[in-house]
Amino acid sequence: MNSEFSALLADVKEQILYLQELGAENFAVELPEFDDSRFAVQDSKLKTQNSATEISQQRLERFIPDVEILKKAAEPILKAESDETKNTRRSLLESTKLSRLPSLPKRTSTFSSFTNNNKPIASREKEMANIPTEEVPQDSLFGDFKPTLAESNETLEEIRADIGNCTRCPLHEGRTKIVHSTGNQQADLMFVGEAPGADEDAQGVPFVGRSGQLLNKIIESIGLKREMVFVGNINRCRPPGNRTPTLPEAKTCKPFLLREIAIVRPKIIVVLGNTACQNLLETKVGITKIRGEFQDYFGVKVMPTFHPAYLLRDPSKKREVWEDMKKVRDELNKLQ
Ligand code: URA
Repeated sequence: MNSEFSALLADVKEQILYLQELGAENFAVELPEFDDSRFAVQDSKLKTQNSATEISQQRLERFIPDVEILKKAAEPILKAESDETKNTRRSLLESTKLSRLPSLPKRTSTFSSFTNNNKPIASREKEMANIPTEEVPQDSLFGDFKPTLAESNETLEEIRADIGNCTRCPLHEGRTKIVHSTGNQQADLMFVGEAPGADEDAQGVPFVGRSGQLLNKIIESIGLKREMVFVGNINRCRPPGNRTPTLPEAKTCKPFLLREIAIVRPKIIVVLGNTACQNLLETKVGITKIRGEFQDYFGVKVMPTFHPAYLLRDPSKKREVWEDMKKVRDELNKLQ
């Protein structure tokens, strides 16, 4: 029943998008009364959460719909839905003009958010196929519909103010300075690392130590300058002894980065190393497997590559990073 509901919802969304492309602004379609009080429990639960991190997560949901919340909210409705209501819903939909329009994936779209470099969705799905199937929601309420980053109306300063003198996770205990993201707010290209090291912790600026020097060379290798890009980390406080941030630590800090991504709206994000890649893309696939192929993050192209610190330990891996950066450069040129 869940998958039928998903398919139906995806179809309606496709049809509405198609109509929007044709210029339609208002839709007079009679559908059964929707009792949204059934979402109230979920909603009030969200509203009573009051830790700062949870509020940030909540604010984030203004930009990025949370599929799990939608699914949970729909569960009781799906259970309660009798076959009769299901059939009524289907026949109402079939009786509208919507159902006679071709479905979105079967036609060429001019709606750039739903194509990947003008390739239809089907080929994007193929490109995404290198992510193991368990990482791709199989029974998503969105179906073929891929949510994209919504416009953000906040500023980077507001995010910093929200972070404040953060004590949301244990990493605050050992930090000297919070290391906020820096760079060009209009950047087409963004780099995401793991967490600050000793130099970054001392200066409060990301990627200023040895890894940062190498990152600058990587940026320059494709004809750009550090001040032209935007640079941030999954975590803003230095983990003790430069250990990898734990999952709860990463989950606590990441929402601020996601809010910055929604403001900067880069065309490409390069994720540096395993931690950045796995946390941003919410995948368990290792960097060695996934690097070098563009992935999708809400319509933004993401290139996973090795972390500069890894290159300092094993310079022979620079060749792979160079190959990945050439792809980034070519894609940026195409997207101009
Ligand atoms: N390594 C990172 O991942 N981020 C920094 O800012 C510095 C080193």
